[in-house]
Amino acid sequence: MHIIAHRGASGNYPENTLCAIEAALQANVDGIELDVQSCQDNYAIIHDTWLDRTTSGQGKVNTTSLETIQSYDAGMGEAVPSLQQVLSTISTRTIINLELKHTFELNKFVSCIERNISDGTLTRSQLLISSFDHHQLLWLKRQLPWVKIGALTASIPLQYAQFAQQLNAYSIHIDKNFINHEFVHDAKQRGLKVYVYTVDKQQDIEDMLHLGVDGIFSNYPCYAKMILARSMN
Ligand code: G3P
Ligand code: MG
Repeated sequence: MHIIAHRGASGNYPENTLCAIEAALQANVDGIELDVQSCQDNYAIIHDTWLDRTTSGQGKVNTTSLETIQSYDAGMGEAVPSLQQVLSTISTRTIINLELKHTFELNKFVSCIERNISDGTLTRSQLLISSFDHHQLLWLKRQLPWVKIGALTASIPLQYAQFAQQLNAYSIHIDKNFINHEFVHDAKQRGLKVYVYTVDKQQDIEDMLHLGVDGIFSNYPCYAKMILARSMN
């Protein structure tokens, strides 16, 4: 079962920052999940539509320039990273799951990904793009047929994982409060990997292992790795 650091090692460090990423890399995680948004002139690694909760600034991300966003404190003196900064920080051995948030400028994003692949900063196999907006994923898959996409759901759809198969997704990412045996069975039959968010507690980690999921997103990846190692012995 893969352990993916949710917003970096965000339980102990400010979410979606370079120090949370560094801590996750130190813990030797399998992957790192980060939220990406279009800002006025670039891409910023931040979860909310508004700057207010996670930074010392105020206002909407999509109408603020990257320079202004990066002038704010995202916690412990860290700045909000740009997309390029995180792609350059994470080695090609680690899965990068970019979750596309809200309204998103897809054209420039595709160019950015292609540029980083061609200069060797990023590999195709380490990249996993997810979104709750399945239309975004459909569009992206048409532009980059090789890209692995993860279809996010916060519920159990009537046709289980059918929508993810229709999207030609690599994986389906589901809220831990909804997952059950039927859903995992259905997704596996369709050839999809199953990843579950957000799993922090020992009992939940063990339950996911018994359900046979392929990976979990955790705010405490170091702890999750320890529980997993203990359960395997
Ligand atoms: O990608 C999994 C998870 O991060 C989705 O929800 O709100 O934490 O971005 P959220
Ligand atoms: Mg996320």
